[in-house]
Amino acid sequence: MNRIQWPFFRRRNTLQLEQEPAQQPASSVSVDDRARLIDTPYFLPKDAEEDTRLNFQHRALYAAMGNHYLAPIKPETTTILDVGTGTGIWPIEMNRLFPEAHIIGLDVSSSSFQYTSTAAYTFMIGDVLKGLPFPEKQFEFVHQRLLVAAIPTANWSTVIDELIRVTRPGGWIEVLEIGVTIKNAGPETARLLAWMGDRSKERGFDMGMVSQLGQLLTRAGLQDVEINHIPAPLGTWGGHVGSMLKTNVLSAFNALKGAYCTQANMSPEQFDTWVQSVAREWETLHASYVFHAAYGRRAPDA
Ligand SMILES: C[S@@+](CC[C@H](N)C(=O)[O-])C[C@H]1O[C@@H](n2cnc3c(N)ncnc32)[C@H](O)[C@@H]1O
Repeated sequence: MNRIQWPFFRRRNTLQLEQEPAQQPASSVSVDDRARLIDTPYFLPKDAEEDTRLNFQHRALYAAMGNHYLAPIKPETTTILDVGTGTGIWPIEMNRLFPEAHIIGLDVSSSSFQYTSTAAYTFMIGDVLKGLPFPEKQFEFVHQRLLVAAIPTANWSTVIDELIRVTRPGGWIEVLEIGVTIKNAGPETARLLAWMGDRSKERGFDMGMVSQLGQLLTRAGLQDVEINHIPAPLGTWGGHVGSMLKTNVLSAFNALKGAYCTQANMSPEQFDTWVQSVAREWETLHASYVFHAAYGRRAPDA
């Protein structure tokens, strides 16, 4: 047994948690020469190129939203969990806003972690589909961002229940996803999104879930649920933010290409040509990309 001393417990008590060392999935290189995790449903690549994209995406989201979170958490918040943390950039940036907090960045694989754990943040392995490796009621703020390619449709409710389980009474849970809604999209964009949606369904994923996050939180019993559908410009027509989002979305489509083209028996070149025509529509029609976010509070006495 490993004995893990959570640093933030030092402020309150000396509770120690016993847990087996977490196992992480192996990776393999697929048709598009990109490494992906095996033994887990997550279907985006897990390689240096994707890590670069995730950090760029983090900056693009910040440029579009002007903050790293939406929930009305108190400045004195000290216990924060980021589920599916990726490179760990969100805990690092949140630490600047909450210097007194201890932030845990958890991911099914440590291969993307770009930071070493300190007294302010801990990076650790854990699989949200198998249950979070924490006792209940630990965190004042639980954040999960961009796991739509990791959580099959059938698992969403259980995952939300798990986020709630580890949240303290009165604490906040926030989830944010992107990827299904492009406003002012032309016919090619609509066709590509529908095609991608069908490929995802074949894998057991419903991308439409991302616009239902608020309903999921409400159904799970959270209070004060707020739903945000935030549009941001997509394309160079939209200046700095629009250009960043365009770069990120094209790069995300490229990351999905290998998996989807293999499933549909489509050539990568055909896919690239399709995406180019889609991107032209964004510029001529002034398309907007929509972020779907929701947050809610665990009942104070639950
Ligand atoms: C698209 S990335 C988002 C990373 C980060 N949340 C961000 O916003 O930059 C999804 C992350 O979820 C992780 N992941 C996939 N399946 C997971 C699971 N079952 N449990 C925990 N993390 C998972 C992946 O390894 C990857 O780092």
